[in-house]
Amino acid sequence: MSFRGWLGVAKLLPGSSRRRPLVVTASPKTNTRVAVNMAEEAKKLAAYAAVDNHVQNNQVVGVGSGSTIVYAVDRLAARVRQEKMNIICVPTSFQARQLIVQHGLMLSDLDRHPELDVTIDGADEVDADLTLIKGGGGCLTQEKIVAGCARHFVVIADYRKDSKALGQQWKKGVPIEVVPMAYVPVSRRIVRLFGGEANLRMAVSKAGPVVTDNSNFILDWKFERPHNWKDVNSAIKMIPGVVETGLFVAMAERVYFGMEDGRVQVRDAPID
Ligand code: A5P
Repeated sequence: MSFRGWLGVAKLLPGSSRRRPLVVTASPKTNTRVAVNMAEEAKKLAAYAAVDNHVQNNQVVGVGSGSTIVYAVDRLAARVRQEKMNIICVPTSFQARQLIVQHGLMLSDLDRHPELDVTIDGADEVDADLTLIKGGGGCLTQEKIVAGCARHFVVIADYRKDSKALGQQWKKGVPIEVVPMAYVPVSRRIVRLFGGEANLRMAVSKAGPVVTDNSNFILDWKFERPHNWKDVNSAIKMIPGVVETGLFVAMAERVYFGMEDGRVQVRDAPID
């Protein structure tokens, strides 16, 4: 049923002589469910478009992390089966590795395949210049490494990730992976340099902090104003104890946005 269809369902009252129409309005819970379904459909559209347009036979493909990439791996696995393709996959996280294995795809790593044809990954937010915030799922370091080894880095996202400027849509801040012993000094230094607040990310179903695939911690830096993200990224990376930031500057070449109306919108990186 369409979005509009869910929102206003008119029924006739049984047993009423005048048969007054009863308008049943969706509850907030229903609205949330509709929005979630639309976002999932949008993720799928973006993921399928990226896999169809950017993956060819005999390629090495970097596989990103998160919920959107799940659709891309589904599509990739279907194409590999149907078209009898020879595709080698390099994961960006434990989750990506599991997806590759569960879909029966060929698993490799950067030792054996340090040069990739394309990496496809999700993002938490994308600005007008294709600067990304990534790391909502805590996998930013491996994601940046694998994206950096690919000739083409393509991003897939739903319409909620599209921003003019970072921070408009994504309110959780920039994830920063840090060596555990350094999280307090790093957090203080970031705040002193750039303001805002940098909080240790806490686990949800475990006591204590989130521990990354690299056995590190994550700080989420909530910034208060727009910045020059290239400079901020370089400056934060210089702080001893910082492993990587979730700012992906001048890395993405193209973003596929799945839209609410079923279209896929493509945005390319600005030409230097
Ligand atoms: C993982 O750490 C992230 O960088 C994800 O790629 C990003 O958060 C996108 O995730 P979703 O596809 O779940 O939105």
